[in-house]
Amino acid sequence: MMGRLPSLLPEQNRLLFQTDPGTPGGTLLRRYWQPVSVVSELPLDGDPKPIKVMGEDLVLFRDGRQRIGLIGRYCPHRGVDLSYARVEERGLRCLYHGWLLGADGRCLDQPAQPPGTSYANEVKHAGYPCREAAGVIFAYMGGGEPPPFPRYDVLAAQPEHVAVSRNYYESNYIHDLDHNLDPSHVSFIHIQFIDSERSGTEGPRPKMGITNTELSANTHYAMDGAPTVHVETVPYGLRVTTIRRAQPGKAFIRGFEFIYPNIVTAPVIENGYTLQYHVPIDDHSHWRYDINLDRDHSYDHAAWARRWADTHHANGALKRNRSNRYRQDRTQMDRWYAGMGSFPPDHDGYLFEETWALEARADEQLGVQDIAIVATRELMLGAINAIQDGRAPPPADDGAAPIQQVIAFSIVVDEHTAWQSCWTDRVHSLKSAAQDSVSSRLES
Ligand code: FES
Ligand SMILES: [Fe+2]
Repeated sequence: MMGRLPSLLPEQNRLLFQTDPGTPGGTLLRRYWQPVSVVSELPLDGDPKPIKVMGEDLVLFRDGRQRIGLIGRYCPHRGVDLSYARVEERGLRCLYHGWLLGADGRCLDQPAQPPGTSYANEVKHAGYPCREAAGVIFAYMGGGEPPPFPRYDVLAAQPEHVAVSRNYYESNYIHDLDHNLDPSHVSFIHIQFIDSERSGTEGPRPKMGITNTELSANTHYAMDGAPTVHVETVPYGLRVTTIRRAQPGKAFIRGFEFIYPNIVTAPVIENGYTLQYHVPIDDHSHWRYDINLDRDHSYDHAAWARRWADTHHANGALKRNRSNRYRQDRTQMDRWYAGMGSFPPDHDGYLFEETWALEARADEQLGVQDIAIVATRELMLGAINAIQDGRAPPPADDGAAPIQQVIAFSIVVDEHTAWQSCWTDRVHSLKSAAQDSVSSRLES
């Protein structure tokens, strides 16, 4: 059996990791709605916020009518920072000479110009449409008519069933995207050794959404570090299935998806999932947005925020980070694989931030367990090609109006169960749950 998979050519590598304006990879990402902030960072009547997305310096704000605007950070007249500007009913008024920029980036007033000139209409300034969903602010930065807003059920769910967090990492987004398509790493860097799980003061680790088992996710991952990985393309991306040995006569099967152009789903909630967006700030830093849906239970948002504050600084950076070497404690390595504590996003930071130069990704020597990474790169390169040829980029959802119930699962089954049936079973159970909820609404 072949153990090695193809790596990227240097030019393909650059196509994927460069996302500044005008780059092919950046153009791909801009053709889809992308998270640019969280609603909690931009409350009603809140201050304008300078942000950077894919190498573009922008200011995110609410105008006096509370409409969200995302426009170029520097005034188109002579370039001062508009995050200091006055907030008015119709937009931001620059402190230097009073130009007024609307939420769509149009120049609406130039009080220092002689009256009667139409120069304002000629002013060009970046302005991107925004939408709020699931506590996240999304923007479309691709120019022209935006595509339909994605129909994932988490973006349309009741707020109590949704929880959002985001992590800041000093690394290119592509490291994180690759990592979330890499099923075997979970059996190494994130592992607590089983004996210490059994005897540890923290008690058993959580089940992380695995159905049909009494064992923790950690125990399952530790049982088999070499999952079989199957991939199949769907119109909006890639379906990935991993199969691990489990208890005698059993198999542990997970199903998740890559969704164009920078999303990976994670089956970590029994009846729900995490939608993970990997959004470049520039080529050397990114945000990962984790948007969680639990269809069965409500989140305690206050407790969620407290837990987040335990592990993160207010600016979104993790408290364990490269500046403190992730607080690695080698005396803990008989207990934890990495000696970096128990919180996987801390380990992840090390994986993305303390890695070789971006150009060196073309030197990777990939194994069969990396098949989902390789398949996703092919899809992304194909989508970049399509745009360069003037064709439409692939869709970001299944087009099923009005909502796509995203499928993600993590289940222990009889070892003879066909993995394909896990997908069809999940589709059927989601469909019947949706029908039940329609019938109960009609009856009430
Ligand atoms: S620099 Fe903004 S109005 Fe002149
Ligand atoms: Fe990880």
